[in-house]
This record gives sequence, structure tokens and C-alpha cells, in this order.
Amino acid sequence: MKEATLTRAPDPLDFIRANMHLAPVPSLPEIQLYTAHPGSGLRRLAEQNEEGFGLQPPYWAYPWPGGAVLARYLLDQPETVAGRRVLDLGAGSGIVAIASAKAGAGAVTAAEIDRNAVAALTLNTLANGVTVAVVVQDITAGPPPAVDLVAVGDLFYERALAERVTAFLDRCLAAGIEVLIGDPGRAYLPRPRLRTLAEYPVPDVGDIKNAPMKNSIVFSLERAA
Ligand SMILES: C[S@@+](CC[C@H](N)C(=O)[O-])C[C@H]1O[C@@H](n2cnc3c(N)ncnc32)[C@H](O)[C@@H]1O
Repeated sequence: MKEATLTRAPDPLDFIRANMHLAPVPSLPEIQLYTAHPGSGLRRLAEQNEEGFGLQPPYWAYPWPGGAVLARYLLDQPETVAGRRVLDLGAGSGIVAIASAKAGAGAVTAAEIDRNAVAALTLNTLANGVTVAVVVQDITAGPPPAVDLVAVGDLFYERALAERVTAFLDRCLAAGIEVLIGDPGRAYLPRPRLRTLAEYPVPDVGDIKNAPMKNSIVFSLERAA
């Protein structure tokens, strides 16, 4: 009888430490992230995982332009988060959560659904000397969280996700929670209700040393009239 050749998924914490480089983010030298490079072999995390985890693209392996611009804004305008409870929704690498903590937020929570992202953001928070609570759950179907500000970096890249996120953010606004969005201008943004706060050139996603610069915007989401 032929034996099954199932391979255990590598532990994402060990994998990231061994195969990714801890490097400052070009547009945010205050923050270091474990970042992918051509030899990282990230596909191994997805291919070897028979539990169904890790099958998402490794969005967590790069700072996205929306997250990078929002993090830049929070570091430049620390009064936005100082002493406040902040939720980083769709945290990925944790770039926005880390910037919030560095800018003096009273408490920071990162919400993520990808266990590899959770490993990456855990290592990234440690590398940056900040404390962030992590919720490994899709909270977008639920009630507004007990926070003062929800910060969303680059989460409007798919229609269904954007609709769910927008409905959640509307419930947050109705509960008196401020909502900030960092985004390079993706198709599914709730455009009519966005107010521009700042715009910065940041590297596009991918090879962050050589990626082209792209203007990304920090918006506040306004309540529906
Ligand atoms: C494009 S990445 C952006 C990551 C980070 N905010 C940044 O700007 O670099 C989107 C992230 O959102 C996560 N995500 C997608 N749907 C989610 C949900 N319902 N709840 C929490 N995280 C989610 C994905 O796993 C992914 O890591």
C-alpha cells in the first residue's frame, strides 16, 4: 500500500524568522517588518498546509500602499491616536497597528483572519517593541468593537469584502467610532463618503526596495446623510 506523503506545514513563526528579512519600511524608517525577498519561498507555507490555512496569497509579507500611507499619517499626526483605543482591521503585517502603538495609542488591537499574517504581525510587533492584542476572527459580521478609532489599510480590493467591510464601518460610525482608511484608490472604496486628510507617495506592493512609488490617500469615512 502506498503511504500518504502528507507534509506538515512549517511553523509560520519559525518559517518567517528563517526566511524573511527584518528591514525598515522605505517610507517609514521608524518601523521594521519581516519582509519577503526573492529567496523567501513563501509558497511553501501555502503548499504544505493540508488544514486549509495559509491558502490565501501572502498579503502579510509586504506593507501595502494603503497601510503604509495610513501608518505614515499616524506617525506624523500622533494626536489622532494618542491615548485612544485603536483597531487595525485587516492588519496583515501589522503596519498600522505598530504605527498606532508607536504614536501613543492607549490600546491597539489587530484583527486578522490569516494565521500566517498573525504570526508575521506578532513577530513584527516584537521587533518594534510594541504591544498589540490580536483577534484572529472575522469581526466584520459582528457588532462595533469597543474602540475609539478603526483604522483600515488597503481592504477595498475585492467587491464582496469591501461591501462587508463598509457595512461594518457604517455600524462603527453609528456607534460613534471614528474610521480612517488608507488606500491607493481601489475600485470598491465607498468614494462618495470619503474625505481626504492626507496624500503621500509610498512604494507599491511587492519588492519594496524597487517598487514604483504611488500616491496613496488617507481618508476619513463620513456617516451617510
Ligand atoms: C491587502 S492586505 C493589507 C494589510 C495591511 N493592512 C497593509 O496595509 O499592509 C489585507 C489583509 O486583510 C486581511 N483580511 C481580509 N479579510 C479580512 C477580514 N474579514 N477580517 C480581518 N482581516 C481580513 C487579509 O488576510 C490581509 O492580510
